[in-house]
Amino acid sequence: MAGEGIIGKVLYSQEEIEARAKEVAAQIDKDYEGEDLILLCTLKGSVMWFADILKYMEHDCKIDFISASSYGSSTSSSGVVKIKFDPNINMYNNHVLVVEDIVDSGITLQYLMGKLEERGPKSVKVCTMLNKEARRTTDFHADYVGFEVDDLFIIGYGLDYDQRLRGLPYISYLEESDVEAL
Ligand code: IMP
Ligand code: MG
Repeated sequence: MAGEGIIGKVLYSQEEIEARAKEVAAQIDKDYEGEDLILLCTLKGSVMWFADILKYMEHDCKIDFISASSYGSSTSSSGVVKIKFDPNINMYNNHVLVVEDIVDSGITLQYLMGKLEERGPKSVKVCTMLNKEARRTTDFHADYVGFEVDDLFIIGYGLDYDQRLRGLPYISYLEESDVEAL
């Protein structure tokens, strides 16, 4: 646990997240039946959702990890995306499913999708735990969405506030008074 007691206002409990992950995993199994699939986890925020999806999928897929970032320690996108860690797994002629924590402006994923397409995969799709549609500044759309969220600053279940609180076993949001108390 990242701290004592509940931090922020809880949106989804671990049980709710896992139940939703089971539904999404079942849909992915159905959609990729009989196909080779690479599940690509975007570090670091997606680790928990990625593990849930992987665990609840029946499909035997390859996995790898990638890290792209357009964030400093601020709470909004800088608009400049950098790939900080890049896997050398061969994506050519494979289906790739990027597993993301949250889509906000969509800048990071739009950039990443372009980069992955250059590697000649059969397809590239995105499964995000959270979709913050209100903040979208691109025409990016995720193919699988765990939950829709309002324009809030979300933490927990992999998501951080300045690299903290990723270990919270629930999804919550921070208001200014919560930040002061951290
Ligand atoms: P985008 O490029 O604006 O879509 O930013 C996506 C990335 O910003 C996500 O993968 C997260 O790492 C981070 N992010 C966006 N919104 C939040 C939030 O509410 N809490 C924590 N991280 C966030
Ligand atoms: Mg991220």
